[in-house]
Amino acid sequence: MMRRLFAATIVIGVAALAARSGTQIESTPFDDAKPILEAMGEIIPAELHDAPAEHRRETWDAWARKRDAEIRDRLAQGDADSVVNFLLFGTSFTAAPRLTSEQLRSIPTQTADDARQPVGTAWQTLFEKRVEDLVRGTMTPGANERLRFARSTLQRAGVDFAAAEAKQKASTYLYENVRRVIHEQASFQQALQAAKGLNDPVEEFAERSKLYKERGLSLDTSLPPDYALEVALKEMKRRGLLKAESVQRVGIIGPGLDFTDKQEGFDFYPTQTVQPFALTDSLLRLQLAKPEAVEVDVLDLSPRILEHVERARRLAATGRGYTIQLPRNPAVGWKTELQAYWEHFGDQVGSPVAPAAVPPALKGITLRAVKIRPALVRRMKTFDVDIVLQRANLQEEEKFDLLIATNILVYYGTFEQSLAMTNIAAMLKPGGFLLTNNALLELPSSEMHSAGYQTVVYSGRPDDGDHIVWYQRKK
Ligand SMILES: C[S@@+](CC[C@H](N)C(=O)[O-])C[C@H]1O[C@@H](n2cnc3c(N)ncnc32)[C@H](O)[C@@H]1O
Repeated sequence: MMRRLFAATIVIGVAALAARSGTQIESTPFDDAKPILEAMGEIIPAELHDAPAEHRRETWDAWARKRDAEIRDRLAQGDADSVVNFLLFGTSFTAAPRLTSEQLRSIPTQTADDARQPVGTAWQTLFEKRVEDLVRGTMTPGANERLRFARSTLQRAGVDFAAAEAKQKASTYLYENVRRVIHEQASFQQALQAAKGLNDPVEEFAERSKLYKERGLSLDTSLPPDYALEVALKEMKRRGLLKAESVQRVGIIGPGLDFTDKQEGFDFYPTQTVQPFALTDSLLRLQLAKPEAVEVDVLDLSPRILEHVERARRLAATGRGYTIQLPRNPAVGWKTELQAYWEHFGDQVGSPVAPAAVPPALKGITLRAVKIRPALVRRMKTFDVDIVLQRANLQEEEKFDLLIATNILVYYGTFEQSLAMTNIAAMLKPGGFLLTNNALLELPSSEMHSAGYQTVVYSGRPDDGDHIVWYQRKK
């Protein structure tokens, strides 16, 4: 049996690119991909499967180059998804209320269904007002970074803001993409139900772990997975897997960017990345790292994220800290432990500052803000890496003690997750750990083996939690 998900006890070399860190980025060498290609048989792409033995190496190199470009292209669809969420939930460009879950469910996903909808329902009036306001906002975005982003996304989709039909074209684009996103959401729900129907928690977790393999690459992020990582790290320390002050080099694969990407997302403060600082905070709180020695780097393929972190570093070099806004919606009913995490978040890495003003439309949202010490921000390095097909070429002493990948490998199927695992193994020190909230296939040839997991519940809402699994690189 190929799949050996954490011991079944669970209940639940192409062209080198210059990285911003200055470290060489290399493609997954054929020799590392080979055992995966051999083990996966039919499920690998036909061109790899059918290549004659003597041409497999060049075929691999060509496929890896092509596939990397395709994966990076998925970012554009993720950008469109971000604009949709901004349209539905943003409050910076409109006075119209956010759409509720119930209203979202009323939006027909097929144009043909429009005719069957009663005209002038509450969601329609609200939705049309939001579209109108967003389109107007993108015409004159001013300094609103999200409107500027929406404008450039529309421009890339062919909207010419100087043309007379710009408004019409922008509205059509927004309607089409809202339909697409809602349709996709419905199919994810169906897939989740089908996974539940397997009546096998291990299989269900494995199925959930590749749920978004066809979806655009989204950058969304939120605080609960960071809390789950802290709980998992604490457990690893308790079990003696991580020793006091033993962690120095940490890599966050796919830290995300808080834009407005969810019903719980907000657009009334600047976009921010949270996970690198959350991890540092947790490692220091648990005394797993020393403040003067810990280095947390970012590995991502999104230019938006890499540029965001680089900008924060440049500002930190001039002595400016990085402010993180921490919203909490009491209506979600977080567990006491998660609320406590939110209350002391940042006390190891910065100091509390006055938070942004919560707009009247979001009455009830509670906000804290923390300014991260510039020294920690300055120390971060960025690597432009597609983890499925690339790795940073690190000297032994530069390799990571810990790599973190939450809500990223779920965007890939089993084959590409296994390729990512080989790249992760290559960047970890012997005995180092990957922490992820996905169940990954363990091939006999893999250097990585699951060593434990921790289930963390966020609220009383159904399925609101994560399983954090830790995989260890062979010593
Ligand atoms: C949904 S966000 C998750 C953010 C954060 N880790 C969290 O759990 O809240 C996915 C992140 O993974 C990044 N990502 C997706 N595919 C990637 C790949 N192949 N290589 C590197 N980064 C990737 C995205 O750019 C984004 O930063």
